[in-house]
Amino acid sequence: MDSSRWLAYFRANALRPVRGTLDPIALEPALREALVHSLQRFHLGESGEGRVAREAAEVGDPVLDDALVRCVDLYVKEEGRHARILVGALKALGARPLRRALAEDLFRLGRRTLGVGRKSIAGLRAKMLVIAAAEVVGVVYYRLLAERVPSPAIQSMATEIAEDEAAHLDFQAAYTRAYLAAATTAGRRWLALGAASFFGAAVACAVLTVAVDQRTLFRELGISPVAFAWSCVTEIRARFPLEDAPPTVEVIRPSTMPLAA
Ligand SMILES: [Fe+2]
Ligand SMILES: [Fe+2]
Repeated sequence: MDSSRWLAYFRANALRPVRGTLDPIALEPALREALVHSLQRFHLGESGEGRVAREAAEVGDPVLDDALVRCVDLYVKEEGRHARILVGALKALGARPLRRALAEDLFRLGRRTLGVGRKSIAGLRAKMLVIAAAEVVGVVYYRLLAERVPSPAIQSMATEIAEDEAAHLDFQAAYTRAYLAAATTAGRRWLALGAASFFGAAVACAVLTVAVDQRTLFRELGISPVAFAWSCVTEIRARFPLEDAPPTVEVIRPSTMPLAA
């Protein structure tokens, strides 16, 4: 895993200016209502992963050097930036963020049930796989907003977040590749099988949750749950084979954001 390149990428991203306050966004009422419901749930999802950065620093995963531990911290902070951007979008839509929601509670309950609460190398890797599953859904979701919501402000915001989430997924793929490569030949097959099964289950849960929770938005944007799920599969397949794929990240990409006022 190319730690210095990843660190340069995350550091460059962290220097991006804060987005300015958005002007009010006018949308047709049914779409506005569905979008507000949706952004409120995704805001909660973007807000709550601080623990994984602390664990990456504490559990001593041998494939995470100091630079990569710092990357995980910057990665989590980038999710916090997404959360703040979504708050801005909600305000421009005349709405507020939520403190909690059923879909988010179910997701956290599922994670605890799967035993992802343990502080250990295996626990950290499992948590990262769950986050990777959320990234898959996030990439497809934000691209959908960028393509189909008739508002330049939402399109610009969603394009930027979708690019970040795609890079996060590349980071997750590189991390998985690194610990599979570090395993013994005998252990690698079982580790890969376990990781793939766990990740597959997490993606299925994430897609199902979004398909049910976002059904009104999907209808408004004219996308079927099956088409959404298929796009998620395409995102995953684009990152295989894990063993050979080089990091696909651009170290520095120009920001398209307006400067803060
Ligand atoms: Fe995010
Ligand atoms: Fe992400």
